[in-house]
Amino acid sequence: MSWVLVKDVEDYNGREVTLKGWVYNKRSSGKIWFLILRDGTGIIQGVVLKNEVSEEVFNKKDELSQESSIIVKGLIHEDKRSPGGYEIVVRNIQILQVAEDYPIALKEHGVEFLMDNRHLWLRSRKQWAILRIRHTVYYAITEYLNQNAFVRFDSPLLTPNACEGTTTLFTVPYFDLGNAYLSQSGQLYLEAGIMSLGRVYDFGPVFRAEKSKTRKHLTEFWMMDAEAAFVEHDENLKIQEELIRFVINAVLGKNRADLEILDRDIEQLQKADAPFKRMTHKEAVVFLRTKGSDIDDNSDLGAKDEVLLTENSDVPIFVEKWPKEIKAFYMKRDKENPDLVLGADLIAPEGFGEIIGGSQREDDYDLLYKRMVAEDMPLDEYQWFLDLRKYGSVPHSGFGVGLERLVQWMSGVVHIREAIPFARTIYRLRP
Ligand code: 4AD
Ligand code: MG
Repeated sequence: MSWVLVKDVEDYNGREVTLKGWVYNKRSSGKIWFLILRDGTGIIQGVVLKNEVSEEVFNKKDELSQESSIIVKGLIHEDKRSPGGYEIVVRNIQILQVAEDYPIALKEHGVEFLMDNRHLWLRSRKQWAILRIRHTVYYAITEYLNQNAFVRFDSPLLTPNACEGTTTLFTVPYFDLGNAYLSQSGQLYLEAGIMSLGRVYDFGPVFRAEKSKTRKHLTEFWMMDAEAAFVEHDENLKIQEELIRFVINAVLGKNRADLEILDRDIEQLQKADAPFKRMTHKEAVVFLRTKGSDIDDNSDLGAKDEVLLTENSDVPIFVEKWPKEIKAFYMKRDKENPDLVLGADLIAPEGFGEIIGGSQREDDYDLLYKRMVAEDMPLDEYQWFLDLRKYGSVPHSGFGVGLERLVQWMSGVVHIREAIPFARTIYRLRP
């Protein structure tokens, strides 16, 4: 490559290089001015000295506005005081385009304004840091799965049926075949996949017509569903814990600088890398009532309950063995109490809420059939799913990780809309 990336400048100390990027900021003081350049891989300070460049180059400071695109030539020079430890002593600046007045100046703006300008907001430092953490989380998840014999198995996004209940389905007209629905989770298809490959996962966008206006809900988000044959409830939780701790370590290892940009409490993340806690739904309800919650015996945890539950816990908490009425049809009954299912939600600490939903699956044809009839499900659409219980059924389990929820927790951002490049919510479809 004929130019150098800012992230690699330390390999070029004392050498003349070319950098390509955008003007992040500039400051001047008489015979010297500073150019802050970002190139996507990092940010570096350029020093322009009146005595060392032509007048033409020196005067470019008046022309260069924030976000102007430029090519800079100069000498890389170690300087402990400058932000990345290196700076570039500028020899030449070639301007590709002088940016018009940039709507997002380096000052505070309202969130609606920033979301309307999301295509530009993405360039600011905090958003850049979050997206880099997202990248690490994505790859850490796939790396862990790859090391543990999970095979990628891409599930369809256009489906004739619901995975997670019919209330949050997006409908798409589908030629002469009636309506299709956008997938809420690839799980059901993965259950077919494991009968071929043993352990599989998918990782892609899923859709939920969520009417809720919370800081944790998107209508389009990314989910990693994993599914494994012969894995039962306890083992399922063990895999989830290992995966999440693997991700925490990846972020701590690769994104220190990004976490600092975000003012993330790094110690809090380090503390989360310890054995996770486990409590039954019943225990959680009893505990929450002592904390003042009015949660019912057969209720899902509300957002406030999730906060209360983890208030004094540094590590995530598995809430397991839920009343069957409030969980999906496919979850396996608990042998010790058939009113409960072997499902678990993983609740992140620091109020970040549910990051994983998973369960052991019902593998008995008759029990599953009865449950589907009781729920009045369209059996013909699910015959293939029932078939899996007819031809060599095995105990199996799986779970789904919400990528943005996990990124939100790792980055410590308050609202999920910042954990994805272009958020989709009930109130937002643009840009
Ligand atoms: O708990 P959920 O609904 O579980 C399933 O869909 C299972 N079929 C997964 C499986 O067993 N393979 O969703 C899984 C995770 C949640 O824990 C949460 O992290 C995330 O997906 N999630 C959302 N994230 C953002 N916006 C929403 N509207 C979300 N709904 C769920
Ligand atoms: Mg859930």
